[in-house]
Order: sequence, then C-alpha cells, then structure tokens
Amino acid sequence: EPDQLPHILPEYYTRARDMMSLQNRAYFLAGAGDEATLLANETAFSCARIIPRPLRETGGGSTQISLLGQSHATPFMVAPFAYHRLLDPLGETATARGAQAQSIKTVVSAQSSVDLAQIRSAAASCDWFQLYWMGSRERTLELAEIALAAGYTVLVLTIDAPVQGVRDREIEAGFQLPPDVRAVNLSAFPATRFTPLIEGQSFVFDHIAHVLPNWRDVDWLMQSVAAPVLLKGILHPDDAARAASVGAAGVIVSNHGGRVLDRAPATLEMLLEVIKRVGSEYPVLMDGGIRRGVDIFIALALGAKAVLIGRPVVCGLCVAGELGVSHVLRLLRDELEIAMLLSGCASINDIHADMVHLKL
Ligand code: FNR
Repeated sequence: EPDQLPHILPEYYTRARDMMSLQNRAYFLAGAGDEATLLANETAFSCARIIPRPLRETGGGSTQISLLGQSHATPFMVAPFAYHRLLDPLGETATARGAQAQSIKTVVSAQSSVDLAQIRSAAASCDWFQLYWMGSRERTLELAEIALAAGYTVLVLTIDAPVQGVRDREIEAGFQLPPDVRAVNLSAFPATRFTPLIEGQSFVFDHIAHVLPNWRDVDWLMQSVAAPVLLKGILHPDDAARAASVGAAGVIVSNHGGRVLDRAPATLEMLLEVIKRVGSEYPVLMDGGIRRGVDIFIALALGAKAVLIGRPVVCGLCVAGELGVSHVLRLLRDELEIAMLLSGCASINDIHADMVHLKL
C-alpha cells in the first residue's frame, strides 16, 4: 500500500531492521568483527559540515553528471550487493526496475540471485556488472564475457573481499542461504579446487591464498577485457595510482560497507588521500556510510565523481520491494537537490571542496 510507505529515510532504516529476520539482519545490516569500520563510515559523514553559499544563481540546476562517457541523471548508483531474493521474491529485478524508475543505474552483483541477463532485460538502463575473481584468469574472463554478451558495458572488479570477513553476527544468528536463493550466475562455474590438505597446513594460506588474484592478474584482465573495468575496494592511495597505471577505468574507494576487514579506515577519510594522489581528473568513486542526501553532497565535494548506495537500498527493498527501492532513491535525490539549493549549487560541478569542513 503506497500510503503506508515510510515518509522519511530513517523510517525505512528502522522499519527494515524491525521487519528482517535475525538472520537477514545479520547478513544485510551488520559489519565484520566489532563493526568499527561500519560505524566509522557513518561517523565520518555525520562529522562533516557543509558551508553553504546562498544567493548564487541556481535556477535550471540539475544533478546530472557524465561518467565514463555515460550520462547519469544523478551522481549515485545502487551498489552491488548479493542475494536480493532474500528480501523480495523478484530480487534484483525489483531493485533494477525501482532504480530505473528514478533514472538510476544498478550495479549488478556477481552474486545476484536472479540471472544477470534476466535483470538486464527487465531494466535496460542497468548496464554495470560487478565481478569477483573466479579463482583463475580464464574463469574470471569467462564471467566477464558472459556479462558483456548480455549487454553490460561497464565492469567492476571487487578486490577487497578475497575471503569472507569475520562475520560474528552471522555466526551468532546462524545465517544460511535458504535452498531457493543462490548465486545463479556462478552455478555453472566449478567450485574452486583446493590442493589437498596436509596435516598442520594453514587452511587460509595453503588452500585459499593460491587462488587469489594479484596485480599481475589484474593487469592481465585489464588487457583482456574489451570494456572499461573499475577496481572496487581501493583504500590506499598507492593502490589507486597502481590501478590507474594498469589501465583501470577508475577506482571505487570502498571497504565493502565494513563487511570485510574490520578496523579498515572510513572511506570518506581515504577518499581525500586517494584524490590527492591520483588527481582530480581520474574517475574516483566511493561508497560506505551514505545514509542521507547531504552525505552524497559531502562525498562529491571531497572529489568523488559518483557514489554507490548499499544499505539504504537494502532497506527500501526489504520494506516495499521495487517501490521501496524507487522511493528511497527518490528521497536521496530530493535531499541532495535541497542540499544543493541551500548551499547555492546549481550543478554537481559547483560542489567544491571548500564547502565542506571535515571534523574527523
Ligand atoms: C555488499 N557489498 C558487495 N560488494 C560487491 O562488490 N559484491 C557483492 O556481492 C557485495 N555484497 C554485499 C552484500 C551486502 C548485504 C552488503 C550490505 C554489501 C558491498 C557494497 O557493494 C557496498 O560497498 C557497501 O554496501 C557500501 O556501503 P553502505 O552503503 O552499505 O554503507
């Protein structure tokens, strides 16, 4: 019932938390370890301050940007997150359609619970696909080519989650995927084969580490894929510079929403350092901790070309499916536009670093 939708963003967040099962709450909303990084992402934004510049001309303004040769109606997209069917029976199809209704793109996760081609045919504007390293160069390229054949045009390689983080909340809640929700795009890929375990060996280092990618593999992938590839999960400025030097089309400053390495720094803090290192021309995106339109403004002021939105969309999907996703994104856009008007910015290019004071 549309008139029963929340009217404000925080109500989406509290209602979703209340509606979710203990298991889903642990999977979708919690972070790794003590959740220091999850909290740090949000705190960095809530500590930043915007210095408005009223009285400037704002008539005819817009939130439009161009990015990698594409035009985007807003400087934000839906972050890739896994298993939307845990929250809504239509899963990623509902999310992509809800976002498309607001002219916003969804980055489809490699671990989507709906077939990647099906999502794309449900929402034609949805043409960014996120890859994980599939254990070998050939398999990773194969997944990339499946996505390109389905019509995706921009790829995002996530590099910050080579293994699961320490997910205490999920362990406590006994989180498990139900039998009808699967990473359907990956089911055709054979499970990664590990070398046989010899007594006394480290499971992590001897069984997992040898199938993880390194910079040479990433360099190879960049040369082998006929599409722009962004690297997601960059925090160190030198890694952003290295990404640029191996031909990444851009980087996404991210700590996976605080779900992998607990005690990694807030992404907003590292954004500044990364841009100092790679300059303002190179496409640097960011995500983590954005809950309000003003947070988007702050990230853009500090130099992000665009941002990705994770948990807020999770909550919209949980509360009201496709409509909830659409409404959450609409509220974020309205809030961003209000922030722009109140601060005297007619366009995204008017949002400058001297308008934000970071009190970290
Ligand atoms: C994620 N994220 C993620 N990232 C990715 O590249 N591939 C994936 O499959 C997933 N899966 C995933 C599941 C869930 C439940 C969440 C919450 C997140 C990380 C995601 O893309 C993004 O980096 C963060 O969600 C951004 O932080 P906020 O906006 O959630 O604070």
